[in-house]
Amino acid sequence: MRQEFEKIVLTEAEIAARVREAAAWLDARFAGGSIPVAVCNLKGSSVFFTDLVRAMQTDVEFDFMAVSSYGSETLAVGKPKVKRPLFASVEGRDVILVEDIVDTGRTLVTLRQYFADLGARSFTVVALLDKPARRRVNAQADFTCFTVEDAFIVGYGLDYAERYRNLPYIAQLKESVYSS
Ligand code: PRP
Repeated sequence: MRQEFEKIVLTEAEIAARVREAAAWLDARFAGGSIPVAVCNLKGSSVFFTDLVRAMQTDVEFDFMAVSSYGSETLAVGKPKVKRPLFASVEGRDVILVEDIVDTGRTLVTLRQYFADLGARSFTVVALLDKPARRRVNAQADFTCFTVEDAFIVGYGLDYAERYRNLPYIAQLKESVYSS
C-alpha cells in the first residue's frame, strides 16, 4: 500500500464481484425491453462505467456528460449545473445513470429533473458508492454497490486534485495529505 494511504477500503476483487452483481441487476431490469442508454457522469464514474457495461449481457448505448458541483460543501452555493451535455437525445429512452458516488445527493436530484425535462422514459441510477452521512437532500440510487463511511477516499475513478483515479482499488487518504 502507498504510504499516503490510511487503508484499503475496497479491493479490486471486492469491487469486481459487486460490479457483476450490479450488471446482473440491470440485465434483469432491462431484459426484453428496448435498448437503454447508459450515461457516464464524468469524470469520476468513468472507471466504474466501463467495467459495469462490459459485465452486462444487455445491449446498451453509451452517452457521456459532466456536471459541475459548485462546491458541494455548503448549502449557500448554487445547485449543480450541467457543464457538458449529452451527445444524443434521450427523449423516450430508458436512461441508466452511472455514478461513482452519491454524497450530498444534489447531483442526483439535479439530474433526475434534467432527464425528466429531456423526456427520458425512465431513469435508473446505479451508484458505486453511497456516503449517507454526507446527505443534504433526499436522494437514493436504485442500486448501490457499497455504502461507505465519511472518509476521504480515492481510486477507481475517485480523485484527490485529479490524482489516483486510475487505481484499481479504493483507498482512504491520510488526513495529512489533504489537510496540508
Ligand atoms: C462527484 C461524483 C458525483 C458527485 C456527487 O463528482 O462524481 O457526480 O460528485 O456529489 P453530490 O452527491 O454531493 O452531488 P465531482 O464533482 O467530484 O466531479 P468528478 O466526477 O469529475 O471528480
